[in-house]
Amino acid sequence: MTTKPRVLQVGSFSGSPSANQRLAKDYDVFELWKHADRKVALAEYGKGITAMVTSANMGANAELINALPDLKAICSWGVGYETIDVQAARERGVLVSNTPDVLTDCVADLAWGLLISGARRMSQGDRFVRAGRWGQVHGGIPLGTRVSGKKLGIIGLGRIGQAIARRGDGFDMEVRYHNRRARNDVPYGYEASLVDLAKWADFLVVATVGGPETRHLVNKEVIEALGPKGVIINIARGPVIDEQAMTAAIENGKLGCAALDVFEYEPKVPEALIDSDNTVLLPHIGSASYETRLAMEDLMLENLQSYFQDGKLVTPVE
Ligand code: DGY
Repeated sequence: MTTKPRVLQVGSFSGSPSANQRLAKDYDVFELWKHADRKVALAEYGKGITAMVTSANMGANAELINALPDLKAICSWGVGYETIDVQAARERGVLVSNTPDVLTDCVADLAWGLLISGARRMSQGDRFVRAGRWGQVHGGIPLGTRVSGKKLGIIGLGRIGQAIARRGDGFDMEVRYHNRRARNDVPYGYEASLVDLAKWADFLVVATVGGPETRHLVNKEVIEALGPKGVIINIARGPVIDEQAMTAAIENGKLGCAALDVFEYEPKVPEALIDSDNTVLLPHIGSASYETRLAMEDLMLENLQSYFQDGKLVTPVE
């Protein structure tokens, strides 16, 4: 009888079609989330575990990494890994992988869905019809703002940012971006100042990585530079925007619209954003299509298999 390799699973992959079952089929899975006292469970069962599966949502902090003396690989589901202590892993010689590329198109598509929905008041229109108000209210819902031919600003021109930019061509938009540094491989204008980008843009899409370096990168000044006609779209990470400043700007009319898939304290959403007709609010579903979620679990499992086969990962994080 062959024994299955042992793998620690931090939490349940409830948003992935078959990750839990596929893991259980091929591995002897230690389901950490089922243990009320993590410390006790890790002390008892942690020895001998060489691989861990997790996600940005579940995380892997230094305490968890260091509680596993034999750990060699962390395979994460999803592209963002700001809650995985890569530095602590590196210090221990632990490899880390994520699932880039496979979700780029779906997240970019969703950014455009949010942009159009916010600009053209689609969610508000939907609520209006469902509430039976069509034909009852004089004038219907307020006018939206035109999308085609406008100016698109992108914060973070990585894989997803570029996919969002490319879609801008189809809407005859001029695209500019803000990054840590200018790229020499793209046809878009670079703005070294985020405030200048926001002043210029009609639509500002946040597509940068999360984590401490980008926390509140979009602050009150940036939000107010975008202004009362501007639409901000966030498909990256909630904390990149100062949510309190954004909420205040929506409340006092200093920002036109916020179309958001991510929030600073998920799943908490400020009441004022919920109450406003100038917001579009989604429950972090950027990658949530059947095809993409399956591709993410495939890639996470490929990384895990590759580690057990030859000690290497397919898509290691740099
Ligand atoms: C990611 O890949 O980081 C997403 O947020 C998960 O859906």
